[in-house]
Amino acid sequence: MSKKMTVVFIVLAFLLLTAADALTQSSENRRHPPARRRSRTAVTGTASQNAPPIAKDQNEQTILGQLDTMYKEQRRGMMNISPDDGRILRLLTESINAKRVVEIGTSNGYSGIWFCLALSKTGGQLITHEIDSGRANLARKNFKKAGVDNLVTLVMGNAHDTVSQIDEPIDILFLDADKAGYMDYLQKLLPKVRPGGLILAHNTTNAGPQMKDYLNAVTTDKNLDTVFVHRYAQGIGITLKKR
Ligand SMILES: C[S@@+](CC[C@H](N)C(=O)[O-])C[C@H]1O[C@@H](n2cnc3c(N)ncnc32)[C@H](O)[C@@H]1O
Repeated sequence: MSKKMTVVFIVLAFLLLTAADALTQSSENRRHPPARRRSRTAVTGTASQNAPPIAKDQNEQTILGQLDTMYKEQRRGMMNISPDDGRILRLLTESINAKRVVEIGTSNGYSGIWFCLALSKTGGQLITHEIDSGRANLARKNFKKAGVDNLVTLVMGNAHDTVSQIDEPIDILFLDADKAGYMDYLQKLLPKVRPGGLILAHNTTNAGPQMKDYLNAVTTDKNLDTVFVHRYAQGIGITLKKR
């Protein structure tokens, strides 16, 4: 092959590789849009591609009905998780047969009721923490309307202090309060999470910069394994405390 032919061949190969890479990137971006380009609907979770959950029995119907009402009528100012994120909490709780779920950040009880959908089947309990009395009162009413108030203990006050009262073992710890406080909650509660238990952290995408210490801790400890889901929306960090 002449020198000229070799140069033409190399240039053609380079162009082909660049085009293939651009195609792969664009299909990856369609599946997982980069955070800076995500749409408002994706962040609020209203652009779900999932079919809605189907109630299996009257108990599920009551709980799902109350969740639907809260989503339509109350979510303004409540900083609730999206319905899809709620379904992930339910799936994880039921699949590890969790009996004791600890939530930091109750708000009006929306995420707590998703946990209760699972706990009503596993025979478990939710201990949820809230600093704001107005939201806590609303949560109590919502737990009652969903018929899950017997599954819930609501602890009022600053969770950085009140978590010291929590008994072990915790099957699932869900962090969804002050984002800069996640590391403190992890340090105080990780010893009480059972081996094989999960630590779930909400807003790992949109509030990632406020919880860098937490993200570093759960991704660099050999005793933990962490994956991030729904990264294109608010993001949930799922951390396994290894056995
Ligand atoms: C993002 S909202 C929780 C939303 C809720 N998990 C849901 O999806 O329905 C955060 C809540 O944490 C509460 N919070 C913030 N700092 C707190 C603290 N130090 N102790 C307890 N609750 C706190 C806020 O008052 C607020 O209601």
